[in-house]
Amino acid sequence: MKRRDFLKTAGVSAAALAMPGSMWAALSGLGADEIERRVKDLVAKMSLSEKIAQMHGNITAEHILVEIPLMSKRRFTWNTPADQRLGIPGIRSVDGPRGSALGQSTCFPAGICRGASWDRDLEERIGTAMGFETRAQGGNMHLSPCINLVRHPSGGRNQETFGEDTHHVGVMGVAQTAGIQRHVMACPKHYAANNQEGNRFSVNVRMSERVLREIYLPHFKKCVDAGAAGIMSAYNDLNGHLCGQNKHLCREILKEDWGFQGFVVSDWINAVDDAVAAAQAGLDLEMPAGAHYGGKLKRAVEAGLVPQSMIDESVTRLLRMKLKFISEDMKSGYDQGMVAGPGHTALAREAAAKGMVLLKNDNAALPLDRGKIRTVAVMGSLADVANIGDKGSSSVNPPYRISPLQGLRDRAGGVKIVHESGANLGRARQVARAADAVVVIAGATSKDEGEGGYGLGDRLDLNLHQQELDLIRAAAPETGRLIVVLEGGGAFTLEDWKDEAEAIVMAWYPGMEGGNALADLLFGDENFSGKLPVTFHRSEDQLPSFDNQAKEIEYDYYHGYRLFDKKGLEPLFPFGHGLSYTSYKYANLRLSAKSIGQSGKLKAMVDVTNVGDRAGEEIVQLYVGYNGSRVDRSVKDLKAFGRIKLEPGKTGTMELEVAAPELAYYDQEKGGWEVEEIEYIVYAGPSSRSSDLLQSTFKISGP
Ligand code: BGC
Repeated sequence: MKRRDFLKTAGVSAAALAMPGSMWAALSGLGADEIERRVKDLVAKMSLSEKIAQMHGNITAEHILVEIPLMSKRRFTWNTPADQRLGIPGIRSVDGPRGSALGQSTCFPAGICRGASWDRDLEERIGTAMGFETRAQGGNMHLSPCINLVRHPSGGRNQETFGEDTHHVGVMGVAQTAGIQRHVMACPKHYAANNQEGNRFSVNVRMSERVLREIYLPHFKKCVDAGAAGIMSAYNDLNGHLCGQNKHLCREILKEDWGFQGFVVSDWINAVDDAVAAAQAGLDLEMPAGAHYGGKLKRAVEAGLVPQSMIDESVTRLLRMKLKFISEDMKSGYDQGMVAGPGHTALAREAAAKGMVLLKNDNAALPLDRGKIRTVAVMGSLADVANIGDKGSSSVNPPYRISPLQGLRDRAGGVKIVHESGANLGRARQVARAADAVVVIAGATSKDEGEGGYGLGDRLDLNLHQQELDLIRAAAPETGRLIVVLEGGGAFTLEDWKDEAEAIVMAWYPGMEGGNALADLLFGDENFSGKLPVTFHRSEDQLPSFDNQAKEIEYDYYHGYRLFDKKGLEPLFPFGHGLSYTSYKYANLRLSAKSIGQSGKLKAMVDVTNVGDRAGEEIVQLYVGYNGSRVDRSVKDLKAFGRIKLEPGKTGTMELEVAAPELAYYDQEKGGWEVEEIEYIVYAGPSSRSSDLLQSTFKISGP
């Protein structure tokens, strides 16, 4: 899509479209050299106090006493001060990954639902819309994307991120970053290894350098390479140091090794406890106040504990991004009417429809054919709730929200929709018996999971609530068409009851338009195309250990599908799985070469045929395995994916590319990446565990 058309889709006015330059050119219109010249000039004019004022937030008592308790109705931005003397603007930052937290904005499906779309173009359009809404309402930095990895289904913030796999999360994170930065600064978070809420402020996560480099960091590196303005450090410790005071993470890897040009911002509550350690580690901005980066940092510089050069470096990074992204009148040309306007809410609906996953569909229970079905019973305590996610920092307050019941009613045509909460099992049985199909909406809400501190945090019980299990078991024998729609941030334990339902849909937290998208899919007006960005386990003993009270945890190389592959475990629904109302056949996997060099690229082509009778969009996945590696490797790693749209009977060729350096392992002894000269196995197909996975091999040798 051309940039101009792209921005139009996101509802950007003509004035904003007139912004000069390419995608990564400065929004302010200044060239890179001019920015560096101005930064240098400004830094030379600044006193130590002025510099330090740039390095921390200026939260006020009013924020703390009045606004923060009203998180869900947030109208304030998290600010850093402007410098009036030198004309330097302040940062006005806004959460977050589900949409703009300001005012009444578009509430998109939670990140995990969008992750299930595997649609980078869609995610870029969503990022563009989020950036637009934040800017139109006075922000200049959007605190997103959240690119934590889902390590275990219990993690309270799993809903905010895209999934369990570093490649997939990285690609989606880059897409959102690129979109946001069409309007404001983005801030990928939380760097790094932030996977649980129970004791997020104090847990020390331990891991080897290889695990860090290969599993927990590549998605951040991708966002840095894409030009992210900020990176937010995580609350937890990594290998004995708070992430924001972790010199290895922030200075050595992020800044020195990756060449990050932006600034490191601390997470919000007690993420810094030592000004000297933080400055030396490379933390540039303490938010939301200068608890350590105010007077304490100034005194540390005066006492010679922190060199002036470090302060200058931080200020340089902050000013560079301000000059790149902040212009004098940020709001000019940004039409308030487009905030949660029809363009953006349509995007929310598209994302929900593309992110919901059809896990099973026995006897073609779905779609519900309006010509054949007269009555649908909609049941469960979540049926008439628009369940949009937790109440933590990512919460968004949309002007309206559509529940499953409302969506189904509005789109029912001649079909009669009967609503039954399910609290009375006797009545539920009767209603189920009288209906042609039963839809039970079940799962988790903000009372079960979310960001720690705003609710329960981690979801320690992975089962559905007993009342929901009772309802499923009561309704099942009364109908031959039981459809269970699950909502929540990740996998549930389904093994015990999954056979009782003909169809199961994973709807996640589908956003303000969720009910409409669900109805579109259940009635077959839209086809399912979403696929799982996380593994659904059969039993909890298959999962990595999860102790959210531990003071220290060790992460090894394996979680998600890599763990299931390595241990030879059978998931209930594998990573990458998702059905649709049509089916696809894969054939003819061919590679562009039998051998490539260590810096070469390989193209894989695979033919996909829509062998059903409905149009659809298929997500094609490419994994790579290793033959004869000298180190322990995954059975296979996701390395590329794409979506292909196919009319019935049509065949299309999906072309996916892998670069040899992406196949390297990190040699901790040498302190560098090693692309091995061995044989690699390419797997291409519809999921990580499909019998349809096609295979081929190639070698890497020579430079
Ligand atoms: C969260 C961040 C968020 C920040 C500001 C923190 O508690 O961890 O993700 O951006 O608050 O709301």
